[in-house]
Amino acid sequence: MDIYILAIESSCDDTSAAVLRNDVLLSNVIANQKVHHEFGGVVPELASRAHQQNIIPVVEAAIRTANIDKKDLSAVAFTRGPGLLGSLMVGVSFAKSFAWSLGIPIISVDHMQAHIMANFLRVEGEEKHAPEFPFLCLTVSGGHTQIVKVNNPFDGEIIGKTIDDAAGETFDKAAKILGLPYPGGPVIDKLAKEGDPKRFSFAKPRIPDFDYSFSGLKTSILYFLRDELKKDNDFIENNKADLCASIQFTIVDILKEKVEKAIQKTKLKTLALAGGVSANSELRTAMKDLAEKYGLDLHIPKMSYTTDNAAMIGMLAHFHYLKKDFSDWDVTPYATGSN
Ligand code: KG4
Ligand code: ZN
Repeated sequence: MDIYILAIESSCDDTSAAVLRNDVLLSNVIANQKVHHEFGGVVPELASRAHQQNIIPVVEAAIRTANIDKKDLSAVAFTRGPGLLGSLMVGVSFAKSFAWSLGIPIISVDHMQAHIMANFLRVEGEEKHAPEFPFLCLTVSGGHTQIVKVNNPFDGEIIGKTIDDAAGETFDKAAKILGLPYPGGPVIDKLAKEGDPKRFSFAKPRIPDFDYSFSGLKTSILYFLRDELKKDNDFIENNKADLCASIQFTIVDILKEKVEKAIQKTKLKTLALAGGVSANSELRTAMKDLAEKYGLDLHIPKMSYTTDNAAMIGMLAHFHYLKKDFSDWDVTPYATGSN
């Protein structure tokens, strides 16, 4: 019998719902919250309120697009964490009530494990090309930066992580310093295309093993601009593209260096990329270069599955369903860690 899963994602500022039939994605609806743009970052209170407004229309649209009846559903999955508690609470509560009313089980999903599962998604008619376990995955988002040895859908060994800021956060903070809108990653990516990545150089961290640090880079950008602006008031405006290209080059170079080290150490033959920053064009190219150099099977999610989406939640939930790994009704969200 086919397994139909409705998945809900509400961990940050995107309200998303998706429907999967077995491992095939039938719909993936995402409502972005524009309300945060003028504040230069996500305002948690406003995010929870916007999720409340969006959740029903988004779920309705996902079910309609999937062309199924809600009575066909086998389970309702949701992001349990990590994320903003108020935002998660909206998705968790909605999923519980919806599943309860239909008499079907609930499946709670970890957001970071789900990002990795974006590499397994496919739509009707698309051939299966999923990474083979175990594989190496660079998971880079607004809140996390990790190198993970993925043993199976539920077991990811974190072999390296950031000790301070995440890569996406660094893109966003750099953009803010440059006076660019939130979220800064996609804006920097776009402007960088016209710029010279070698024009300016910034301090790179010296952190042992496979860990990352990005807070020094942020300070280095800040001090550099402070000095340049003293000489030329329009320095940022006159050098915007070169600044974006140079900042992006530095972040990607830092990410690439540790991934290369991890490839050499683990000798794994499959490499994957995941998380919001995996949308970055320069990072995608850097991973392709590494895959070519070491003869690896490379998996990069489609653009629509890079930033937060419910399709990836549904994909991981599908694996939970196969193990009959359902959640208790008293499950609550978590903001950090894994419980
Ligand atoms: O995974 P995600 O949607 O949310 C979290 O779980 O954090 O990631 C959002 C992050 C933001 O920091 C955003 O600036 C970054 O992903 N991002 C990008 C690009 N698209 C999104 N960073 C660099 N280049 C991009 N093209
Ligand atoms: Zn995310």
